[in-house]
Amino acid sequence: MVALPTETVYGLGGLATLPEAVEKIFRIKNRPSVNPLIVHVASAGEAQIWAGIPDETLARASAFWPGPLTLVCPLRAGPALAPAVTAGLSTVAVRVPAHPLMQAVLKALHAPLAAPSANPSGTLSCTSAHDVAEAFAGCPEEFRILDGGPCAEGVESTIVDTTTTPWSVLRWGALSLETLQATWGGRFVVPDPGLENPAEHPPALVRSPGQLLRHYAPRLPLRMNATGPRPGEAFLGFGPSSGPCTLNLSPSGTLEEAARNLFAMLHQLDQNPEHNGIAVAPVPCTGPGHAINDRLKRACTATAGSS
Ligand code: TXA
Ligand code: MG
Repeated sequence: MVALPTETVYGLGGLATLPEAVEKIFRIKNRPSVNPLIVHVASAGEAQIWAGIPDETLARASAFWPGPLTLVCPLRAGPALAPAVTAGLSTVAVRVPAHPLMQAVLKALHAPLAAPSANPSGTLSCTSAHDVAEAFAGCPEEFRILDGGPCAEGVESTIVDTTTTPWSVLRWGALSLETLQATWGGRFVVPDPGLENPAEHPPALVRSPGQLLRHYAPRLPLRMNATGPRPGEAFLGFGPSSGPCTLNLSPSGTLEEAARNLFAMLHQLDQNPEHNGIAVAPVPCTGPGHAINDRLKRACTATAGSS
């Protein structure tokens, strides 16, 4: 098992066919066993070994693979993944990551890697080897970290469920809905990823077990859509009009840059003992802004619930 970079966030990778490796991932992350893992492969062709992917789906996927798109597909009978990878579901989530180091590892292994984000379950994702090391500083089990530099995207992959008609987006991510829509047409539904009572969630969202769990929680309480800091708070700005701030997600107001900086800056502010909270300026809800606001919303809820 090894922590390694992808273009979205760092992952904690283990052979998806090896039950001991998969068990170790769940143990180290303290991840609930009901939450399945994404299977990472070197190519779309390799994805077909594990997932039942019709040609039409493969053609659509190839517009974005390698890249930050995860497809939920029927699990293929035959060569076996460790059962814990799919948490007993009849579907499997597959992705072809683009990061050259991850690609090199996958090609050398000739095997699929189960890789959740490299952070203790429920906490901030990590976009640098340094943040992974910090996040697991107290972990009794040792593992190596491959340093591939900072992640280019900064938020996790977009997850699309292809087993529903029409397809449904289960997680907002690095691949924006505008881009998906422009390439695929409007043939999928996008449930509002609100954080209300899970019982009221549209069925599509309930099908992605991880989306219902406590998520992305910094140590400090977090407020979003803030116009400025309260006493003691760090202020995470966005754009040129944020005024004085502790850090700015993107001084020029670029959403791609903000996504790239999001987790790194939250880690940095969270580790500063001088702050008693983090206030975040409004971030527009377009393009990568959807994923940014989704992560912030979940972080607010998680810290409010855990304080
Ligand atoms: O960008 C990413 O996707 C990163 C990098 C490392 O690849 N990985 C990542 O993994 O974000 P993780 O485990 O933090 O999030 C995976 C999400 C979880 O919410 C999980 O519930 C969902 O994918 N998932 C996995 N298999 C699924 C399935 N068969 N059906 C529905 N959701 C699934
Ligand atoms: Mg995660």
